[in-house]
Amino acid sequence: MPLVRTVYVSTVADSKDSAALPQIMKLAQANNEVHNLTGLLVFNHKYYLQVIEGGRKAVNSLLSNLYRDPRHVDMMVLGLEEITQRAFPDWGMQFVPAASATREIMLRNGVAREFDPYGMSAASALGFLRDMHGVALAKSAV
Ligand SMILES: Cc1cc2nc3c(=O)[nH]c(=O)nc-3n(C[C@H](O)[C@H](O)[C@H](O)COP(=O)(O)O)c2cc1C
Repeated sequence: MPLVRTVYVSTVADSKDSAALPQIMKLAQANNEVHNLTGLLVFNHKYYLQVIEGGRKAVNSLLSNLYRDPRHVDMMVLGLEEITQRAFPDWGMQFVPAASATREIMLRNGVAREFDPYGMSAASALGFLRDMHGVALAKSAV
């Protein structure tokens, strides 16, 4: 089964629903492990930005679930590509608050000062997510 990577952006449906994110993370962790899906979800109270890697079939079924999930709206796929190697291989899903993104990470990846993933190219979004992954790992290692 070919390996693919997709990056999408969406908008939080109800920013006052504080239960939504823990629910999503719990679900994602369990499902992703079963289906060999890996990736990273970045969230900033307004937007979600997520990269998902895995078998083409598993990635596409998750995408169709995501399109139907009422916990977010205006979902837009920034890109879907075939890959030979995972860039996010070693874990299921991690939550990294976008607020912890340093200005440096934003600037390095050509991201505007405001975190607005709808304006990002797939390449910028991926660079941003890779750097965010690095930040999360560095923090959890301390
Ligand atoms: C922002 C966001 C990210 C999500 N990420 C995942 C994920 O990585 N993996 C997953 O299985 N479900 C994720 N979900 C939940 C799916 O939309 C869906 O509820 C889940 O795949 C279970 O679907 P099912 O119960 O119909 O099988 C996410 C939902 C949202 C709103």
